[in-house]
Amino acid sequence: MSLSSAPDLMVHTAPLYDRVKSVIPSIEWPAFAEDIDAILELKRERDAVILAHNYQTPEIFHCVADIVGDSLALAREAMKVDAKVIVLAGVHFMAETAKLLNPAKRVLIPDLDAGCSLAASITAADVRLLRQRYPGVPVVTYVNTSAAVKAESDICCTSGNARKIVEGLGVPKVIMLPDEYLAQNIAAETGVEIVTWAGHCEVHERFSAADIKQLRAGHPGIVVLAHPECPPEVVAVSDFTGSTAAMIDYVGKEKPARVVLVTECSMSDNVAVQHPDIEFVRPCNLCPHMKQITLPKIRHALETMQHEVTIDPAVAAPARRAVERMLEFR
Ligand code: 13P
Ligand code: SF4
Repeated sequence: MSLSSAPDLMVHTAPLYDRVKSVIPSIEWPAFAEDIDAILELKRERDAVILAHNYQTPEIFHCVADIVGDSLALAREAMKVDAKVIVLAGVHFMAETAKLLNPAKRVLIPDLDAGCSLAASITAADVRLLRQRYPGVPVVTYVNTSAAVKAESDICCTSGNARKIVEGLGVPKVIMLPDEYLAQNIAAETGVEIVTWAGHCEVHERFSAADIKQLRAGHPGIVVLAHPECPPEVVAVSDFTGSTAAMIDYVGKEKPARVVLVTECSMSDNVAVQHPDIEFVRPCNLCPHMKQITLPKIRHALETMQHEVTIDPAVAAPARRAVERMLEFR
């Protein structure tokens, strides 16, 4: 529990506020400071680390997270965690992946309703049916799926390594699940024939080529970075397509004067904090699942050690193999 009085709290959280002052109005900070202070203390008491996805809000991303990144980075980092407890500030499939890769740790998700429209679009039985329909065709499964779906797969991928994996399998045809647009975008890049599934990210499917056209008309010189979960028509009119981490790298390296990140809203806030000289144009879509995670829920998770992620061992073994194959893939 935090022992700080209100004035003390403002003083000792001032360096944290300094990190986010460009995106959080000062009037809102007192509402965050108490939870942040308590979470930092609870992390020490519980021997916990917080892994946060790039779509988490700035007060989580910049003030309480120990490790931040895209789905691939979070999976890699989860594997290396030494602390006893991992709190996953992200969505359920990310917490499951952390548990698969570091099963001895207690993995907590602050809200069990933090799902994903892609993960919800497909079941293990669907994958078994596809295998029957396309015998011998390898199944590449996006990490945005349940452990049960991963368990039916040959190998996983993320938006950060999908191209490398599909090309590297060295086969003319793969089944790629469940994101239809990611699969179509990768098919266009690689020339590999891809059997798709009609799953979509409810955040990225809402962007259109007309939106990009309008942006370019309203903001001359703008550089458009799109996530590969966007429809192919959006990717076709963007300047760069990549995972959330690849977009962050692009902004850091290329330093465009004016940029739009065609993805979830918190990305621009989180990246803008580090690049005050870049103009971020911000039409974006919120992910309601990512936004289930809040400071009070992270605090509650650490106070009560809920909600612990567990995976049936019969599912965990094959699911882990599919994720590990992805991580070992050269
Ligand atoms: P990446 O961070 O791996 O690009 O994934 C984006 C996403 O939608 C995760 O839910
Ligand atoms: Fe799922 Fe899309 Fe939300 Fe990511 S942004 S968690 S892919 S619904």
